[in-house]
Amino acid sequence: MTEQPMVIAIDGPAGSGKSTVAKAVASRLGLDYLDTGAMYRSVAFAALRGGVDPEDAEVVSNLARNIDLQIDTNGTVIVDDVDATIEIRGPEVTRAVSIVAANPDVRKEMRTRQRQWVAKRGGGVMEGRDIGTVVFPEARLKVYLDASPEVRAARRSKDVSDLSYETVATDLARRDALDQNRTHDPLRTASDAVTIDTSDLTVDQIVDAIMGHLP
Ligand code: DC
Repeated sequence: MTEQPMVIAIDGPAGSGKSTVAKAVASRLGLDYLDTGAMYRSVAFAALRGGVDPEDAEVVSNLARNIDLQIDTNGTVIVDDVDATIEIRGPEVTRAVSIVAANPDVRKEMRTRQRQWVAKRGGGVMEGRDIGTVVFPEARLKVYLDASPEVRAARRSKDVSDLSYETVATDLARRDALDQNRTHDPLRTASDAVTIDTSDLTVDQIVDAIMGHLP
């Protein structure tokens, strides 16, 4: 029998603590970490930069197939030789990304690249929306992180100091609705995922809980 790759899938909505927790779990286990949201953000960035309408499904999926993406564990993101680390987190990309992420051909391409990333390493910690449900249904451990909308919006507004809490909360609610209600690979909890409400937990407590669930 071939050994399953050591994949830990961490899914959940924006502001649930995925990135911080996934990085900490990866570091404790000595595994690499991949932020798959940064991949969708990079495609949205490339579309905006190239003057492409994010709603133009065919052009955007072509772009996704041809894009050169370098996503470093330290958070640096290079898109076709352009450093997009800051801009992929900006308001324009954040507004466009849900449209790009709803495109089935873009998803197919990103899924292929995510599986290649694991194949190259034999495993890793991957965070996103569909890792446990679609990309790696055979992951060693699936975690679904959640938190109240208020806590998630407060966390995100700390990251983006130039926007008000209300703007961030409204944008988050809109993005949640798009991510949960899209036709292809919507955000949902895998039936065999461990669900953790992170609203009142510290990062260490969440990481300890995840480590305790490792088979
Ligand atoms: O985690 P994030 O906010 O950086 O993700 C950006 C967007 O990408 C988010 O609106 C949902 C989408 N996404 C996705 O559809 N599938 C993933 N595996 C990761 C992110």
